[in-house]
Amino acid sequence: MSQPSYVIDEMISAKAIAARIEALAQEIEKDFKDTNKLVVVGLLRGSFVFIADLVRELGLPVEVDFLEVSSYGDAMESSREVRILKDLRTGIEGRDVLVVEDIVDTGYTLSHVIKLLESRAPRQLRTIALLDKPTRREVDIRADWIGFEIPDEFVVGYGIDYAQRNRNLGFIGKVRFTE
Ligand code: IMP
Ligand code: MG
Repeated sequence: MSQPSYVIDEMISAKAIAARIEALAQEIEKDFKDTNKLVVVGLLRGSFVFIADLVRELGLPVEVDFLEVSSYGDAMESSREVRILKDLRTGIEGRDVLVVEDIVDTGYTLSHVIKLLESRAPRQLRTIALLDKPTRREVDIRADWIGFEIPDEFVVGYGIDYAQRNRNLGFIGKVRFTE
């Protein structure tokens, strides 16, 4: 099925993202300075670029794992049902865990993931999202750290897709339909 045509307007530059991640990493290091080994959990697939840059800025012992839950598919509307598509390989009981998300939109995904992981009794569970769209929220939830608050625009790049495209852009851009 063909997609409508669109252009991508830069919203957040690669340089601005890098600077923000450096600052966030410093805050996270302070918070987890006593950790034995932090389990950094990337939510697939949108967070794969963000988690790669974030862990390289963290001066802490880290373990990296991934969790995939179902969400948008190829549509722009969030499905309210969240299913596990790929579970963690790491047992997180008693561990310090940082969940890394690309965007918090309605909040359903992050709140389900928190519920799921809290049920496994980690010592500490914190969350970070690169982007936050607070005006879209339907569930009362906020990530502990946020890269950037953005308006209600559909964005791509830096790991984030539209219909599985544009994940490989170095910047965050907004999708503008031209027809
Ligand atoms: P939520 O459950 O509505 O908070 O949805 C969060 C998920 O929806 C994110 O992890 C993204 O995968 C996806 N999403 C939300 N907004 C956008 C967007 O602007 N572009 C691409 N994906 C998005
Ligand atoms: Mg996602």
